[in-house]
Amino acid sequence: MRTTGINRAFVAFITFLPVLIYQTEAFYIKNNLTSQYEYDGVPIEAGVDISDAIMVKAVEIPEETVTYEGSQVWRVLADNDQGEFVSYLQETGEVSKWVGTESVIDVLVRPDMIPRVSRFLRERQIKYDVMIPDLQQAIDQENPLPSPEELEELQGRKGHKMEWSSYHRLDDIHGYLDYLAVTYPSICSVMSIGNSFEGRPLKVLRISKGQPNVPSIWIDGGIHAREWVSPAAVTYIIDNLVENSDDLKADYYILPVVNPDGYEYTFRGDRLWRKNRSSPEKGGVCIGVDLNRNFGYKWGGLGTSKQPCREIYTGTSPFSEPETAAIKNFFDATAGNFSAYLTFHSYGQYILYPWGYDKRVPPDYAELEEVGRASAASMKSATGDHSIYTVGNSATTLYAASGGADDWAKAMLKIKYAYTIELRDRGRHGFILPAKYIIPTAQEALAAVNTVTMASLKNYKN
Ligand code: ARG
Ligand code: ZN
Repeated sequence: MRTTGINRAFVAFITFLPVLIYQTEAFYIKNNLTSQYEYDGVPIEAGVDISDAIMVKAVEIPEETVTYEGSQVWRVLADNDQGEFVSYLQETGEVSKWVGTESVIDVLVRPDMIPRVSRFLRERQIKYDVMIPDLQQAIDQENPLPSPEELEELQGRKGHKMEWSSYHRLDDIHGYLDYLAVTYPSICSVMSIGNSFEGRPLKVLRISKGQPNVPSIWIDGGIHAREWVSPAAVTYIIDNLVENSDDLKADYYILPVVNPDGYEYTFRGDRLWRKNRSSPEKGGVCIGVDLNRNFGYKWGGLGTSKQPCREIYTGTSPFSEPETAAIKNFFDATAGNFSAYLTFHSYGQYILYPWGYDKRVPPDYAELEEVGRASAASMKSATGDHSIYTVGNSATTLYAASGGADDWAKAMLKIKYAYTIELRDRGRHGFILPAKYIIPTAQEALAAVNTVTMASLKNYKN
């Protein structure tokens, strides 16, 4: 997580495109003061906010790229000692949590911290495995891009640049949605339901044959910027629904990238960015809100933080962010009869139903469990890899986290089948899933969509 001089010089001298940002963020990173990466969605009480101690001064400096040279990702088998390890993490502020359940925690360990953290764990006989020995190398190898010639060729042949052997930039994804609307006007239409903080459109594709009395299904991806396989899988689902439109049984509303600013930032600035890119409050220094803590049900409860530097920062109020507000406004305005709300994340291979705000379940949880299990079964047989997906309510299965989209969809919109699906993998690559796994992962995601569609039809008829 150091900033490279080379990158800086490159940006400054080659592109001559200095960007006005708050110097404090870079200052923060350089001086190891950041707590940006401390916890990824974990129910841990807030620590000390150091942001007040730092002077804010806006100066013109080039945008910098974060490097993970020498950083590692460890899987800590914490069992009983988890509490102690977690408070240790919090104190150091240099170890960031990727994901974790009550017994297993994946953490990103910066190079200078490796000796200290390993000593801490060894002294307590806490077991850990090195999952990713060189994170920057993993990042560099994750996404071999098609050559510009190949992309031009695609554009010429197919009319868009989308394909699923690599992760694509936002422009390619949006270009693909626009292409579908122009090419298949009888079933596809694109609408922008609002703009992101930095002004990018939030493009929803509607796929519908205009059949009367069919359920509507919402699908989204990319609410967390670094979970690249999510938008990739969602666009793959789109491709499949459109290609097989004769079989369409429902109306689909699909937002492949809920967090376009964050998504683009993971290509330009920091591959491991999670939140959106909204500006700090007056006097603050840290950028971004966790959009999956910003929805208006049980907002600010367990598994959230009021500290802007945290990965699980709630924002200033429910729907304070343009991205979540746009989704809310869309549902306020739509007449659609929604039976399902599927939001795709990575990683861990979980099918999660409400509630996430606490270890409780809704009255109809048995049906959610049943359809979840049917989805897991269809995902398992979707590819030769026989992937295992774990089903359960999210607070119990993963960890408590309030203000999530799924809980809001269930409680406030009264949408029956509200699921968060954590796609591949189970930790070998984590967020840095090599592009060759996009297609099998997306096939699993598609299988889940088809299973939930079937359940929605049944439920709709009753
Ligand atoms: N990884 C997701 C997150 O941390 C899980 C969300 C599950 N849903 C929930 N309402 N907690 O945002
Ligand atoms: Zn996520």
